[in-house]
Amino acid sequence: MSRKPIIAGNWKMNLLQSESKALFEGIKSFVSNYSATQLPTVVIAPVFTSLNQVSAIACDCGCEGTRLSVAGQNCHWESSGAYTGEISVEMLKDAGCSYVIIGHSERRQYFSESDEMINKKAKAILAGGLIPIICCGESLEQRESGVTDSWIASQIRAALAGISSEDVAKSVIAYEPIWAIGTGKSCDSEEANRVIKMIRGVVSEVAGSQAADSIRILYGGSVKPSTIEEQMSKSDIDGALIGGASLKAESFNEIIEKTMKVAV
Ligand code: PGA
Repeated sequence: MSRKPIIAGNWKMNLLQSESKALFEGIKSFVSNYSATQLPTVVIAPVFTSLNQVSAIACDCGCEGTRLSVAGQNCHWESSGAYTGEISVEMLKDAGCSYVIIGHSERRQYFSESDEMINKKAKAILAGGLIPIICCGESLEQRESGVTDSWIASQIRAALAGISSEDVAKSVIAYEPIWAIGTGKSCDSEEANRVIKMIRGVVSEVAGSQAADSIRILYGGSVKPSTIEEQMSKSDIDGALIGGASLKAESFNEIIEKTMKVAV
């Protein structure tokens, strides 16, 4: 089963509108040199205030065969109402998003997001016709105490509970060890591949082997141009979710270019 790789940039709470536009245009001018079939699926998650602007540029660069897809960094599971500060799936879709990142460790840690909330968000995203990028990952303490696999398996089981096999198949998971995020210390690629294989096994248990073969599972945590080739050469790593290195067109484009060499 060949799965199309995904290179996703998570801009987190960075960049004003003018800065987002400049960075997105820098990525667009690079991807415009290739056809959509040559490229990995390239997804960019800017801040909400830049979504409209970035989506307009994405569309302009090839709605006929999308070279750049746009993602929200979070959403609420309700469609509208009295939820101050939140954003719905339909609003993200309206602003040009086709993906939504959910369950990022920063949201779990700073905004107390639970597995149950992440499951509700995943269901709302799929019901709205968008694709969830469901993040999971262990802390350093959990890794050192040997509970990595059981912790991640439970995060995945909870996130996918009650979702049809067909919807699981089109979802995306990002394995992001918390200790590797923003630290410059990437997880050893053999070990990342091992954990991702384990995640695929859990997906197979809950949604069947076809869904497990189709679902794309990314690695995230200090991915850089110097690490991507080795990561993408592993059997089960289907792409990367990139924070720091996605904030410069030069490094992000280099990551896309290297991914094409190894894996598209
Ligand atoms: P990083 O962030 O690439 O800066 O480690 C990854 C992420 O948080 O998604």
